[in-house]
Amino acid sequence: MRLDKYLTLCGLGSRREVRKIIASGGIEVDSIPVLKPETEVHNGARVTWDGENLVYRPYVVIAMNKPAGYLTATRDAHAKTVLDLLPPELQRRDLSPAGRLDKDTTGLLILTDRGDLVHRLISPRHEISKVYSAELDRPADGSDAEAFAKGLDLGDFTSLPAVLEILPGSEARVTVHEGKYHQVKRMFEARGKTVLSLHREAVGPIHLPPELSPGEWRYFTEEECRILLDACGLKI
Ligand code: URA
Repeated sequence: MRLDKYLTLCGLGSRREVRKIIASGGIEVDSIPVLKPETEVHNGARVTWDGENLVYRPYVVIAMNKPAGYLTATRDAHAKTVLDLLPPELQRRDLSPAGRLDKDTTGLLILTDRGDLVHRLISPRHEISKVYSAELDRPADGSDAEAFAKGLDLGDFTSLPAVLEILPGSEARVTVHEGKYHQVKRMFEARGKTVLSLHREAVGPIHLPPELSPGEWRYFTEEECRILLDACGLKI
C-alpha cells in the first residue's frame, strides 16, 4: 500500500495533510526516512513519525458511552452529534453509528467504517440482540413480559418477540433484536407505561465498557473485534 494511504489509515489526516507531513520529514519506514508519498509500505513494516510508532487500522470499530443530549447522526446543522465527541482524525474517517439511539437515550453506541458490520448489526435478519435498561413511570409485571414475548402490535408493525426482565422498583431490562424508531419506548407505551430513561447496556456479545463515562469512547480491542465480527458472521 502507498505510504500516503497507509498514513491516512493510521489517522494522521487526509491524503493532502499526510503528504505535507511526509514532505516535512519525520516519517520513517523500517528506520529509513521516506519523503515520497507513493513509497510502498509492505505488510508488517514499522512506520514511525518523529520516532513514535504509528498504529495502522485498516478499519475502525469504536465503543462510545453516548451521553444524553447528542443526536445519533454524522452531522446536523443545529444539534450536537455523537461525532462531535470524537477527535478530528476520526471525524474524517467516514464512521457510521450502528443503529440509532434517541437524543435522550444513553449507553453503548458502536461506530465503525465497516459498512458490512453496520448492516449486520442493524438488520433484524441477523438477530443481533440489543439490551436496554429502562426506568418506567410504574412497575412492569408478568403480563407485560408475556406481551413482549408474543410480539406487540405497534400499529405500523408488530414487534419481534422480546425478553422483558422485571427489576426492582420501576426498572426493567429489555432484549430486542430489531431497532425501529423509538421501538422500546413504543413497546412500553403499548402496555400503558412510559419510559422515563433508557440506557443501552449491550449489543450482541459486547457490553458497554465499564470504564467509559458518558461522552467517552475507546477503540475495540482486537479480541472484541473478533468476537463481534464472529457474532455477525463476518471475517476480520
Ligand atoms: N428504543 C427506543 O425507544 N429508543 C432508543 O433510543 C433505542 C431503542
